[in-house]
Amino acid sequence: MARRYAQLQILIEEFRPRVIVEIGAWKGKRALEMAEAAFRAAGDSYYELHYKGYDLFDTASVESDAEELNVKAHHTRDAVASTLEAFAREHPGFTFELIEGNTRETLAPQAVDFAFIDGGHSVETIRSDLDRLRDSRVILLDDWYALDDRGAGPDLEVYGCNRVLEGVPHEVLPVRDPIHGGGLVQMALIAPPLSRRARMKLAMLKTRTALRGPRPAPATPAAP
Ligand SMILES: C[S@@+](CC[C@H](N)C(=O)[O-])C[C@H]1O[C@@H](n2cnc3c(N)ncnc32)[C@H](O)[C@@H]1O
Repeated sequence: MARRYAQLQILIEEFRPRVIVEIGAWKGKRALEMAEAAFRAAGDSYYELHYKGYDLFDTASVESDAEELNVKAHHTRDAVASTLEAFAREHPGFTFELIEGNTRETLAPQAVDFAFIDGGHSVETIRSDLDRLRDSRVILLDDWYALDDRGAGPDLEVYGCNRVLEGVPHEVLPVRDPIHGGGLVQMALIAPPLSRRARMKLAMLKTRTALRGPRPAPATPAAP
């Protein structure tokens, strides 16, 4: 499993968002992890969290996979809704919306507490997603690419958020995963300064990850 997503939970605990937007809801796995982290951080207090998940869902096609460098299987909106409904039954403060379609058409400009941009991998789509969410308090982007030690990696003129973030103050988070086909993938953060506690947690995670040694690239195509 990719290791960098553990950083997402540290950030959710840090910022305790009430509204999360995820671009690229996929099968709802990350939505559950983020919601669990938020409710865990709230302890016994009543907590309200609204999740908005955007994805192509049933409208995905071979063409959109190629355009967005998508290698993951697709899930229906209904299947993801059932997963999140089960979570909502156990957590009364949890509500959600799932929006189907291409975010270049479906995503309205909005400012939310926490935006996680992890949908289409093309520079064009990431630029459009970030532009519409730019006034959000915290923005986390997946798909910041680096070359591996063989000098391989995705074409940054076509894929990833590197080009989109040029001129935008951000920080690249430390944990990196290998990409099938070559290269490394990290996350980039646009946010208010982190607390000392969150910084320590990120540093500890980085150390633990380094101690476990380099993770082999997935044998079958996995998420860049
Ligand atoms: C890498 S997966 C998301 C993984 C998920 N965020 C997670 O952490 O488990 C990318 C998702 O984005 C969706 N996607 C790709 N291009 C999109 C677009 N232009 N608009 C909306 N969704 C898109 C794909 O259908 C896919 O489910």
